[in-house]
This record gives sequence, structure tokens and C-alpha cells, in this order.
Amino acid sequence: MNILGIETSCDETAAAIVKDGRHILSNVVVSQIDIFKEYGGVIPEVAARSHLEAIQPVIKNAFKSAGFINNHQPDWLKIDAIAVTHTPGLLGSLLIGTLTARTLAILHDKPLFPTHHLKSHIYSAWLSPEKPAPSFPVLALVVSGGHTQLIYMKDHHDFEIIGTTLDDAVGECFDKVAKILGLPYPGGPSISKAALDGNPEKYHFPHPKVSDLNFSFSGLKTAVLRSVQQELKKPISFPSFELAPLLTPKQVSDFAASFEQTAVDILLEKTKKALKTHPSSSVIICGGVSANNLLRKKSASILKNSGAKVLFPEKSLSGDNAAMVTSAAFFEIQSGVQPSDPYKLNILPRSPIA
Ligand code: KG4
Ligand code: ZN
Repeated sequence: MNILGIETSCDETAAAIVKDGRHILSNVVVSQIDIFKEYGGVIPEVAARSHLEAIQPVIKNAFKSAGFINNHQPDWLKIDAIAVTHTPGLLGSLLIGTLTARTLAILHDKPLFPTHHLKSHIYSAWLSPEKPAPSFPVLALVVSGGHTQLIYMKDHHDFEIIGTTLDDAVGECFDKVAKILGLPYPGGPSISKAALDGNPEKYHFPHPKVSDLNFSFSGLKTAVLRSVQQELKKPISFPSFELAPLLTPKQVSDFAASFEQTAVDILLEKTKKALKTHPSSSVIICGGVSANNLLRKKSASILKNSGAKVLFPEKSLSGDNAAMVTSAAFFEIQSGVQPSDPYKLNILPRSPIA
């Protein structure tokens, strides 16, 4: 079964064609990072307009790169279904992808399957057909710009949120700390790069005292801010955006490395704790932050004796893409989920996975 996937929930316009939920035939992603670097973050209205410009060429390129072209036109006979992210995400961004998918489903008479963005991130772990598929029960740590959640799955189509952030998402924390340190958007990759030359033991930031399996990251961001102010002998009233030019490159690297290590340790300690109450065969670490090298490296040692196999998506599939959307849809179809009415499918800017 060949599914065309469409993803526009934030600032990536993406389309992909995937066979049987695992074999990527094409995967096209156009990122708006270059536009938002200038602003230091995503501007929803600008993101929606950029999706509108990019969506048709991106879909056409997904057909081209899969070799699904007939008479210079996309060969729709080769497509069995369309899947689209309709929740959660930025309202205007979700609208562009969802309205495009609805229109194409009506025009080409294809069944339409809406998907949840966090489910798609989890299913990015199924997109490496050369490796064995994750086995259930699965514990998923979803770490992105908008979410930090521990999700327990006894089977496909069965999601239980067992931990979530009480304030900022971890990716958001990377982005905010990068801003304090004067590093470019998105913060994750630029903090990792700066951290390479830094000493992770130079500064010590407390781990939040959050009960159960929940997370909190706004305190960590404030702890970094206070520590930078202290290092520069500035009062706590000193504006955060005026600190970066006063830092030496060495100080930036040390703060980046110390922050990165703390954030990674917090994530992995909670995951280890979750495995005690929710023993699992596989741990899937996914979402934009799962591209982080330190997280990938440390997960092996911290989760070593947990009895679970730790799986990451391919690095190129950890951020937003449409291949993961088709994979989530494929396994929903296998579980008997029926297609949605293309005349009625709505978007939902916020909605939980379960
Ligand atoms: O999943 P994603 O692409 O979009 C959302 O659904 O939010 O995640 C984006 C987030 C951003 O906050 C970005 O800074 C973070 O993922 N990120 C990273 C890395 N690459 C991207 N965080 C830490 N280390 C990275 N290498
Ligand atoms: Zn995402």
C-alpha cells in the first residue's frame, strides 16, 4: 500500500510517499529555518504563507522523486491513500496541509486519514526497514519544540500518557537558552555545536523536583539565565538579551555544554524511572530533540540495564517530515481505522494523543 503523506504543522512543508508504512519511496522537506533565523523563532502567520507557496511543488517533487510520474504529471493511480497531520500544531500551518489533503482526496477519489503529530513522531521509529520493527510494549519519549511526553503503548493504536511537561517543552528550552547565549535559531543544533568545545562540568544546574513522571524545563532556563548574570557580575534585573555580547566564546561553550548535559540527564533519568513502573521491550526516543548526539550517546549507558532496546529514528527523520505521517496512518489502517470525510475533516491546534 502506497500512502502519500503531508505535514505542515509548524515550519516544515513536507510530503512523502511510503510503501507499507516502512519503505520510503520519497521524502521531501522544505524548511523555513532560514526565514525564522532572522527573528529567532517561528512567526505563525509567516509560516502559514510559506506553506501555501511551497506545498504544491513539494508534493509534485515527492511524486517525482518516487518515480511516480506519467506524462510529466503525478501518477495518482499509484497512490492508495492520503495521510495528513491535522493536529496539534499552529492553526494556520495545519490549515494549509489539511485543506490541500482534503482537496486532493476529493479530486483523485482517495481515502483520507488524519494523523496526530506526536503519533507520527513515534512511528518515525518504524521507518528503518533494515532494522527489526519496535516490539511492544513500547515506551516512547517524545521530545520536540512543542512537547515533552512519556507515552506507553501496549500495542498499535493504544497510547497512554504517563508523563508530560508542566511548563516548557525541552526543545523550547534549548531554543530559549540559545537565545540567552546569543546562538542562532533553532537552539538545539547550535547549542550542541557550541557544546563540543565546552566543559559540561563547569556550571551546575539543579534538576527540577517534579513528582511522578512529569517534567519541568522553565526552571532550568531560568537557572542558566541567573548563572550567566552571576558570571558577568550583573544583577538579576539585567536584560537577558543584553548578556550574550558580553560572553567570551569559551563561556558560551561551557554554558552550552553544562546546560545540554543537564537537559539530557533529566530526560533519561525520568525515562529510567518510567521503565520501573512500565517495563517495556522497546524505548523509542523521537521528535526534533532526538537528533541530539549526547542524548543518543548517553541513552545507551543510562538505560543499559533496563531490559529495553533503545531505538532512535534515523537522524534525518527526527525532525518534522511526512514519511512518519504515512507510517502512523498505515498502522492505524491496519488496526481497522476508517478514513475521514474529506468534506468535513477539521484541524485541531491542540489535542492530546490519547
Ligand atoms: O519535532 P520538531 O522538528 O518540531 C516540533 O514538532 O516541535 O522539533 C523541533 C525542536 C526545536 O526546539 C529544536 O531546537 C530541537 O527540536 N532540536 C534539537 C536538535 N535538533 C533539533 N534539540 C537538541 N539537539 C539537537 N541536535
Ligand atoms: Zn514535531
